[in-house]
Amino acid sequence: MSSPTGSRILVSGGAGYIGSHAAYALKEAGYEPVIVDNLSTGNAWAVSFGTFEQGDIGDEEFIGAVYKKYEPVAAMHFAALIEVGESVKNPDKYFDNNRDRAARFFKTLNKHNVRKVVFSSTAAVYGDAGDAGPVSELSLTRPVNPYGQSKLEAEAYLRMLDAAGMRSVALRYFNVAGAAPVEAMIGEAHLPETHLIPRLILPLIDTPADLLRGLGLESGFAIYGNDYPTKDGTAIRDYIHVMDLVDAHLRALDYLLNGGETDIFNLGSGTGFSVMEIVDAARTALGRPHFAPPAAPRREGDPAILVASIAKAGKILNWKPARALPDIIGYAAAWHRSPFYREAIRDKIARAKIAQT
Ligand SMILES: NC(=O)c1ccc[n+]([C@@H]2O[C@H](COP(=O)([O-])OP(=O)(O)OC[C@H]3O[C@@H](n4cnc5c(N)ncnc54)[C@H](O)[C@@H]3O)[C@@H](O)[C@H]2O)c1
Repeated sequence: MSSPTGSRILVSGGAGYIGSHAAYALKEAGYEPVIVDNLSTGNAWAVSFGTFEQGDIGDEEFIGAVYKKYEPVAAMHFAALIEVGESVKNPDKYFDNNRDRAARFFKTLNKHNVRKVVFSSTAAVYGDAGDAGPVSELSLTRPVNPYGQSKLEAEAYLRMLDAAGMRSVALRYFNVAGAAPVEAMIGEAHLPETHLIPRLILPLIDTPADLLRGLGLESGFAIYGNDYPTKDGTAIRDYIHVMDLVDAHLRALDYLLNGGETDIFNLGSGTGFSVMEIVDAARTALGRPHFAPPAAPRREGDPAILVASIAKAGKILNWKPARALPDIIGYAAAWHRSPFYREAIRDKIARAKIAQT
């Protein structure tokens, strides 16, 4: 890879789960992350791996000022709203933030000649294409919710700027989980927590009852749908460790800095696990052999199977994930058990309560 020494990389959404891990990996690799985040869902404690500027990606003046101060050579764009259910209830909020503000952000970057962008996209752009087999970058994109649609339209806008000299890589993530080593003091701290692995783990690792209540997990974990046409009736997904994911971002950045063309890559493990298999892995990893979660009805819009073909990222970015499912669960559990996470999420729950009153 090229020598990153001191090169500044703008990291939008760097106070969030994946953006903070990217900043950590960039710093470790010798880059200088410049984090931009409006802290709408992110965490002020997660920005310790770079310089932090609080503001909105859609604010052209703010982004322009950040550019003038730091002159970044490239950007990684993580900032977005990510709750599928909320996007169904309030699509305008998602199109405004994830598409329109993202488009303004890309335009501002282009204006300032920051013309290498790595963009966090999502497997949600594929909708239910996975039911026909592993999903490749050529599979049909037909999102089944406003979240997926807003990300797909942001992707399209960014790709359109290619004609203006902007080179970009859209990385379509499958299910991201796990955390950096616990000493890094970063990890998933979403509120509400809608992702399967933390929802499964948190009730199994002696998380204090007030936190489970605050996270909406007081009734424990339930399996949404056990009547899918899969081997055990539960939905099949592809899980990728966040550190493998951010490794792919560094490779994508290197690819762009070395003259790579605008492109799209799937990022997953390339292997599907049913919800029941994840439950099994958690039983083993967490020493809870008798754990037997109840089944609940399917959630609307949840396809039976969504597994990535990752051959393209392997070939062009020379990337392959190195961490297996037990590592994902082990790192996630270490993070969610840490006093740091517990204090941080307690504080986030308290602030959310105050904001509601
Ligand atoms: N978590 C996953 O499993 C997953 C899967 C697929 C794709 N993604 C994509 O990865 C990216 C990061 O996801 P995450 O899980 O880290 O989410 P996150 O909510 O933890 O982080 C998003 C960050 O963006 C910030 N933000 C949102 N809108 C902003 C705006 N207008 N201006 C400035 N900052 C803003 C938030 O404050 C937050 O810190 C998103 O783009 C998401 O679509 C995530």
